Amino acid sequence: MEVIKTEVELREKLSQVNGKQSVGFVPTMGALHQGHLSLVKQARDENEIVVVSIFVNPTQFNDKKDLETYPRNLQEDLKKLENTACDFVYTPEYKDVYPVLDTREFNFGGLETVMEGKHRPGHFNGVAQVVSKLLDIVQPGKAYFGRKDFQQLAVIKALVKKLDIKTAIIGCPTVREGHGLAMSSRNEKLSEEERKNAGAIYNMLAEARNIASGFSVQELREWAIQKINKNKYLDVEYFEIVDDTNLQPVKNWEENSVKVGCIAVYCGSVRLIDNIIF
Ligand code: PAF
Repeated sequence: MEVIKTEVELREKLSQVNGKQSVGFVPTMGALHQGHLSLVKQARDENEIVVVSIFVNPTQFNDKKDLETYPRNLQEDLKKLENTACDFVYTPEYKDVYPVLDTREFNFGGLETVMEGKHRPGHFNGVAQVVSKLLDIVQPGKAYFGRKDFQQLAVIKALVKKLDIKTAIIGCPTVREGHGLAMSSRNEKLSEEERKNAGAIYNMLAEARNIASGFSVQELREWAIQKINKNKYLDVEYFEIVDDTNLQPVKNWEENSVKVGCIAVYCGSVRLIDNIIF
């Protein structure tokens, strides 16, 4: 495994393999957990060369404190990656990714006006900026993203379509802790008690799926929000049941679409998201 700090060096390395060997890419912001490692494993299984990037991208944080406190653990991350047989790890500094200010503004229409886009203004623009830059540098055949970030996945699929980027965007299953909590770098910031209680989020989603047919969409939303808010450690920011292609809230179960329940919950000061397909 080679650790590479600059775009120039990474482009140079990849120019020797691109076009000859398949390249799989896993972009991350570090603080790696089993969820990330499962993406790397899938990339390993499906490609000859695997590239991982570790870069906490400031342009996607709408909250300065969230950026400052985002977990960073490069040495631990590199140790974990050593065991996944990844070939290159790109660990750039800010100036390497943004030599000049990125002023590009993307418009993803309805995909970005709901849920995460609504509650974290500018977030998806920052994600689009960094992902488009990284895909341009790595030029992978496939790039891997977790389905926990369901809306991000939809935005990135729209991004590659919009910019005519040839990379296939692969959505991968959410990996969960034993009690159901979706793995996230942010889980590191939870106290032991908070972490235990945060398992209630997925338990509620699973129960909601089981009982959905007995309720209207609106009733189920209300039930779900109340159920989570009854737990004193948890505070729902939103729970929406949306159409999986345009991400717009559905009004009734009869609508002809796959429906996904998406939730954002504060557990103390830590914001957690999760989703379930109905
Ligand atoms: O999902 C993440 O970790 C980040 O949003 C990504 C895709 C690496 C872009 O910074």
